[in-house]
Amino acid sequence: TVDLRTSLASVQLANPVLTASGCAAAGKELGQFFDVADLGGIVTKSIMMRPRSGRATPRMAETPSGMLNSIGLQGPGIDSFIANDLKWLKDNGARTVVSIAGHNTDEFVNLAKRLYNQPIDLLEVNISCPNVESRGQVFACDPLAASRVISAVRRAANPNVPIFAKLTPDVTDIAAIARSVADAGADGISLINTLLGMVIDLDTLRPALGGITGGLSGPAIRPVAVRCVWQVHQAVPHLPLLGMGGIKTGRDALEFILAGACAVSVGTAVFHDPTAPMRIIGELRDELALRGFASLTDAVGFAHKSA
Ligand code: DOR
Repeated sequence: TVDLRTSLASVQLANPVLTASGCAAAGKELGQFFDVADLGGIVTKSIMMRPRSGRATPRMAETPSGMLNSIGLQGPGIDSFIANDLKWLKDNGARTVVSIAGHNTDEFVNLAKRLYNQPIDLLEVNISCPNVESRGQVFACDPLAASRVISAVRRAANPNVPIFAKLTPDVTDIAAIARSVADAGADGISLINTLLGMVIDLDTLRPALGGITGGLSGPAIRPVAVRCVWQVHQAVPHLPLLGMGGIKTGRDALEFILAGACAVSVGTAVFHDPTAPMRIIGELRDELALRGFASLTDAVGFAHKSA
């Protein structure tokens, strides 16, 4: 049988399948469907300093190829998150990746400080949410803005906790952004956040989402995500990548691994089938075995090798 163990920087994982940020608040909801300790890890919904109610409703729209959301970083705020959600994840043995989001560098730094002594495995620094007040707050659109946030978080966070920068596909040169956050001290990169999009409601003849634009996820963005993983792996081959975007089968996951991801996150597929991440672990094992891979790590970045 195939050895599925992998790692994200210094964090060892039993298998490479995690949930994606936002597909569950902090994982509790998934506990009724499977044992959260059996996954590679849980990535929590991006948390901010204060409780937030998010954007105006409606804030989800389905299209035949993917889902749009304009949630706007709704959440309980860091204090409640630490007291309730983080505790639950630890008590249940989950590998925990905490996603943080801020309006500015100071907020990111304060979040990293709050989490300094908490039982977390990895920090995902979400500098790419499309549903923020201004485009200038999508720090991952600009190499300099991205590197400022990442270097400040790297200095403030517990040195034993790796930090991953989460990037957006809405840029002309994702490799340039990746190099910039790598130089700023990111220990890895999460690819990709949702793609900016919108839907018009043909009954109201108006934008379907209260926030007008939203982030597109699901099958529609998978080839975009695979391309980003490929380009970033080429630009910074030593950096571990966590790949995501429209994964709903083991075959989908394998594409990301071959393009250069060490592990993958499952997001939109969880809304349709909460057990999808567990199913994908088994499917990925079968797909690897079928192709003669003895271990997952042998397959990471394999598509880059000359034939
Ligand atoms: O699509 C997204 N929606 N990406 C994020 O990073 C945050 C989320 C939201 O809360 O709007």
